[in-house]
Amino acid sequence: MSGRLAGKVVVITGAGSIAAGWGIGKATAVACARAGARVVAADIDAAAAAETARLVTEEGGEALAATVDVADAGSVEALAELAMARFGRVDVVHNNVGIGKVGGPLDTAIEDWDRVHRTNVTALLIAAKAFLPGMRERRSGVFLTTSSIAGWRYVGFPHLAYSVTKAAATHFTRMIAAQYAAEGIRAVTIVPGLMDTPRIRLTVARAFPDMPFEDLRAQRDAQVPMGTMGDGWDVAHAVVFLASDEARYITGTELVIDGGLSLTVSGG
Ligand SMILES: NC(=O)c1ccc[n+]([C@@H]2O[C@H](COP(=O)([O-])OP(=O)(O)OC[C@H]3O[C@@H](n4cnc5c(N)ncnc54)[C@H](O)[C@@H]3O)[C@@H](O)[C@H]2O)c1
Repeated sequence: MSGRLAGKVVVITGAGSIAAGWGIGKATAVACARAGARVVAADIDAAAAAETARLVTEEGGEALAATVDVADAGSVEALAELAMARFGRVDVVHNNVGIGKVGGPLDTAIEDWDRVHRTNVTALLIAAKAFLPGMRERRSGVFLTTSSIAGWRYVGFPHLAYSVTKAAATHFTRMIAAQYAAEGIRAVTIVPGLMDTPRIRLTVARAFPDMPFEDLRAQRDAQVPMGTMGDGWDVAHAVVFLASDEARYITGTELVIDGGLSLTVSGG
């Protein structure tokens, strides 16, 4: 395989989609494979992971589907072992799972708060423990995290647990970057804005039950200076760059992919 990621092994979590269409992880898996990477498409939904791997192999790429719960340390250790057994190394891990629970402090149950933290933040610690040792041995690796502009600002409806965990995910990633920069390991946070992925039909639509989905979509488009939401591919292409050696001097920072949304006063 030739391409910007030739020879690299990329593990992507949340590499499926919760419904038909292209989620960020699914697009990223296909984009990385098109760039020459061997890909591990990992998802809690076995069928969704298999679908992504199938799309890659159908195009002539190399992919392994894996079932994982990123919130479970044993499951992630098994994922790392599986990737090592099949490919012998992991060069890039893209921590792409994010769950939410719509609500503010008064209507967020502590159980939900803990569950969202476990999946969005503790999972990063779990992934670090599973994947950093191999990267340290090879003195090379990339640790990518999908955050959200919700981790920076109010997004127009109360999404407290999600927002707080996305802020934490960004800082966690910076801390990895700082500690391991001298060992050849880079860590970068990807910060999408409003993206048109299958998830918004469920999560965001749930926050506005009285609004027809097409009106909601138009409202989200209208908030963005570029006039439209982004999609999974906008993130996927950025991940290909960040995972590649062309980004070798980029670490400890955030790449915002939001059509200019974060420049506005009220968007989000
Ligand atoms: N869609 C947006 O507007 C948007 C905006 C900003 C940030 N993000 C972030 O981007 C990432 C991907 O979003 P998306 O909309 O493409 O995702 P999505 O909702 O399509 O989810 C991707 C996959 O994650 C899997 N998943 C859920 N819990 C898991 C777990 N515990 N272990 C393993 N897999 C699990 C799901 O099965 C799904 O296939 C998330 O971190 C999300 O917070 C999305």
